[in-house]
Amino acid sequence: MKFEEPEDPQWLAFRRALERAIGVPLGQYKEPQMKRRLANIMTRRGLNGWPAFEKAIAADRELLADVRDTLTINVSEFFRQADRFQELQAKWLPELIKERRQLKIWSAGCSVGCEPYTLAMILNELDPRGNHSILATDVDMPILSRAREGNGYPPSEVRSVPPALLKKYFVSEGETFRVTDDIRRKVNFRRHDLLSDPYPTDLDMILCRNVVIYFTDEAKQHIYKGFAKALRPSGLLFIGGSEMIMRSGEIGFRTAGTSMYQKAA
Ligand SMILES: C[S@@+](CC[C@H](N)C(=O)[O-])C[C@H]1O[C@@H](n2cnc3c(N)ncnc32)[C@H](O)[C@@H]1O
Repeated sequence: MKFEEPEDPQWLAFRRALERAIGVPLGQYKEPQMKRRLANIMTRRGLNGWPAFEKAIAADRELLADVRDTLTINVSEFFRQADRFQELQAKWLPELIKERRQLKIWSAGCSVGCEPYTLAMILNELDPRGNHSILATDVDMPILSRAREGNGYPPSEVRSVPPALLKKYFVSEGETFRVTDDIRRKVNFRRHDLLSDPYPTDLDMILCRNVVIYFTDEAKQHIYKGFAKALRPSGLLFIGGSEMIMRSGEIGFRTAGTSMYQKAA
């Protein structure tokens, strides 16, 4: 007979303190991955054990921000996986615009805003007079403030932007780039936790890329079922290159293309 290992009480106390401090419930994040990342920070800071780490995050706001960034991983870039966005521009979005004149699109887990701003640029190229709605959400408040400002993007985050669009939609500010005000105004940013908040409805498309990789299988299913409800019939779900939806048919999706699922009509 196999017995479950009892949870380490020091780890549990640390996790609770951390959840309170960053305001993000961590129960549905993959625990081994989370512990590994936290252990790296502990070693880097010369901290010995979870109680010492708990004291340190209570006293040091910078460390707390570092821990939050490490757990929620905010890495992003414009036109991330450029070939997928080219396909979005050449095929998926023109088809959607033909069907419905005003699109309702949600970028869930938008980080610093590269993804929803990329979408705003593509929509502007396709339909300059269009009045489409782009909602962009993330659980991380500080990252959302940065996204709203739409500036401070280093060259590494704009490296995949086609040169003509870089010229048209960005302003160079010393070492970094800022998106033009026109593009900034097209995106509506809001805090939203994919694990606990209600989802919007009647959407034409959802982009949720490189977000659920940190979640348990149970949490992923919860999110994908929520997306299926949030989309209108035939609506599209665009996911990350390394992701796939398990038992997608049971949830109500069919595979429509690479990284693209469509809700049953
Ligand atoms: C790696 S970034 C992905 C950014 C963008 N989608 C992309 O592909 O470049 C993952 C984002 O998911 C957000 N995130 C993590 N847990 C979340 C949750 N429970 N609800 C909403 N967003 C979450 C993080 O804050 C982070 O900004």
